[in-house]
Amino acid sequence: MSLLKVLVYPDPALREPAREVERFDPELENFIRDLWETMLAYDGVGLAATQVGRNLRACVISWKEHRLILVNPRITAAEGEQVGEEGCLSFPGIFEKIRRPLKVRVEAVDAAGKPFSLEAEGFLARALCHEIDHLDGRLLIDHLSPLKREIVRKKLLKRSREERRNS
Ligand code: NI
Repeated sequence: MSLLKVLVYPDPALREPAREVERFDPELENFIRDLWETMLAYDGVGLAATQVGRNLRACVISWKEHRLILVNPRITAAEGEQVGEEGCLSFPGIFEKIRRPLKVRVEAVDAAGKPFSLEAEGFLARALCHEIDHLDGRLLIDHLSPLKREIVRKKLLKRSREERRNS
């Protein structure tokens, strides 16, 4: 088991759409275990492979009693809408109100390649949309107005400059 490094915006790897997983082998299982442990270590609700620099369609979510490992997930239905605060391990310290569907249906396979589907609403639906967005190279910031986007972008650029100076 090893903890993975979480990439922070504006790292360009966060923009790469992830490739479908085709090989279901122990290497994938180990990677997903590391992804899971990294999410827990950072106290995150979810983490996508693209956030740790792996171009694979895989993500994990841990919220309340829900423990989800999703490989090749896709949203097959969405309805309603909700607005709520969202954060992201790749946007440390940023929390913004974001509009998402209220309910979603997701189809995916597990780490062994076995298909499953689930229906979710409320916060879990939000988390699923957020993580699947990551796998398409889409980020929290893309859901903001141009003005808000610029404010968040500047805040994170300033932060990364400060971190470089202090390291
Ligand atoms: Ni995120």
